[in-house]
Amino acid sequence: NRQPIIAIDGPAGAGKSTVAHQVAAKLKLVYLDTGAMYRAITWLVLQHGIKVDDECAIAELVSHYCIELTPSEDPLYSLTIMINGNNLNEEIRSVEVTSNVSAVASHKSVRQALVKQQQTWGQKGGLVAEGRDIGTHVFPDAEVKIFLNASIEERARRRQQDFQRQGEPEVSLEQLEKQIAERDWKDSNREVSPLQKANNAIEINTDGLTVSQVTAIIIQKYQHLI
Ligand code: C5P
Repeated sequence: NRQPIIAIDGPAGAGKSTVAHQVAAKLKLVYLDTGAMYRAITWLVLQHGIKVDDECAIAELVSHYCIELTPSEDPLYSLTIMINGNNLNEEIRSVEVTSNVSAVASHKSVRQALVKQQQTWGQKGGLVAEGRDIGTHVFPDAEVKIFLNASIEERARRRQQDFQRQGEPEVSLEQLEKQIAERDWKDSNREVSPLQKANNAIEINTDGLTVSQVTAIIIQKYQHLI
């Protein structure tokens, strides 16, 4: 007797965050960005000068830090990831964190700790959770499972637009495609709960679809299935 859960998985740059956010706002559910949690740990690892392949040191670090979620005022239904009381929303989106996060997220001990936390937060349901292993591993009994995908060219274009909006230096599409492909490869080929489409997930290719179109499709599935 928990509230429904919508699981959204997919490769980097498929539009998961934007869409998950909109779906959550429209359905008045809580939005849980699990990638932000792996990013926050990665930020900590880099801050401490720990090597990304040093699982022991990383596990030790994880056990000492407390990741909290606090409801943000704007937008209403999203949660802010805080580490020991600090809001890291900007730091965790840096190029450095992005290029190291897959290595950190591949460690079993890191995943166990974060998945446990995600499951605790999801106990009562009522959330849209977004990541790589939500439908397969974190919430295998989610009522609605979506696998968002898009061509690599489209995903690189979106990343480039994000960078432009943030006033970051220009990176070529070719370079971005390479970085995205590399991260996807690592996420799909790691041993512990790799990026995978759950058997019963609905796959949506978002090439040529707007955010509101994708959001509408998911809401329709939700209303149909609940
Ligand atoms: O979604 P986002 O790009 O913020 O995710 C950052 C990274 O965190 C992914 O590339 C992946 O390595 C890791 N991740 C994961 N499992 C999740 C969510 C994110 O391994 N559920």
